[in-house]
Amino acid sequence: MSKNILVTGGAGFIGSHVVRLLVNKYPKYHIINLDLLTYAGNLANLTDIEKKDNYTFIKADICDFEQMQELFKKYDIDTVIHLAAESHVDRSIKDPFTFAQTNVMGTLSLLQAAKHYWGDNYDEKLFYHVSTDEVYGSLGEEGYFLETTKYDPHSPYSASKASSDHFVRAFQDTYGMPTVISNCSNNYGPYQFPEKLIPLFINNIQNNKPLPVYGKGENVRDWLFVEDHARAIDIIFHEGKTGDTYNIGGFNEWKNIDLIKVMIKTVDRLLGREEGTSENLITYVTDRAGHDLRYAIDSTKLKDELGWEPSLQFEEGIEKTVKWYLENKDWMENITNGEYEKYYAEMYK
Ligand code: NAD
Ligand code: TYD
Repeated sequence: MSKNILVTGGAGFIGSHVVRLLVNKYPKYHIINLDLLTYAGNLANLTDIEKKDNYTFIKADICDFEQMQELFKKYDIDTVIHLAAESHVDRSIKDPFTFAQTNVMGTLSLLQAAKHYWGDNYDEKLFYHVSTDEVYGSLGEEGYFLETTKYDPHSPYSASKASSDHFVRAFQDTYGMPTVISNCSNNYGPYQFPEKLIPLFINNIQNNKPLPVYGKGENVRDWLFVEDHARAIDIIFHEGKTGDTYNIGGFNEWKNIDLIKVMIKTVDRLLGREEGTSENLITYVTDRAGHDLRYAIDSTKLKDELGWEPSLQFEEGIEKTVKWYLENKDWMENITNGEYEKYYAEMYK
């Protein structure tokens, strides 16, 4: 069966993996990748598929409601996978307005454009919203986030994502729009913008730059290889129950400082340095404001109902990831000049 799928944020980190998977796996689907190409969007993430017949790129802002309406019509959009967002907690602390605008108003603009175009005929239609586990807040030493965990966001980023999730559910409940939401843990892998922990630290270790560890490095995150997230999105998109929520996670918790030491060992080894020599780059810095202590996802529902499981062990995933960044220096150099330097100087002064 053919579909016209609007993927938003497809030039970003996770979106580019989703676009690549769908374009290659489903030649009969038309994948329309809509992205504003903010600092986080990069068409170099998609050079391998950009010439495929079933792929179209559009540079546009999801907040532009008029344009969203035109695009639904022009491409006869029947399904949406919505990833476009401002996604970095540290930036949200400095500039919460942009997060409310893009993540809340942008999502609402897309929902409303879908509703206008689809009218009351929701046959074969779906609005899939990609969200984060950060909406659930912070865990103590014990326990996991379930799909039923009460929302308790703390950062402007997670508050804006929580709000967008609520709007998606409101469209399902009020207008009967078929929707599905997934909430995923921290992703890592190729093509991640080097402001997030893993690519930032790989790049700094390689360049012998200080590694700014927030607080005591004791915060815990549950890390999932990005291609496993893309695979989960594919499965939920096709087989997920309308109106439902699915948690996606790696059952792979790491204290930041332990994870950082694994990265140091891996980079040192692959660069032919004595393993662990770069530990002297570790620099403890002021903690992030409102820093959530621990995230950990229980993705049993996704496993039991739709058969999804992470495919990679963490050791394998981190090795693959470090190798990718070391082998793709041009990709990194192209995005770490100009604006990035300014961001870095301001953030870590
Ligand atoms: P990213 O920052 O790498 O990419 C976001 C993309 O959205 C960029 O390409 C950017 O250009 C685009 N964008 C931003 N504002 C836009 C606008 N107004 N109109 C159109 N496009 C716009 O983010 P990511 O890490 O790939 O995350 C993608 C989605 O997955 C987000 O919704 C995020 O909340 C969610 N998520 C991320 C993680 C993670 O660990 N990175 C985990 C769980 C959920
Ligand atoms: P990040 O990649 O920003 O993801 P999130 O905040 O969405 O979980 O950060 C992951 C963890 O690493 C988080 O606990 C904050 C910490 N961190 C640092 O210690 N130093 C850094 O420079 C960054 C970017 C993050």
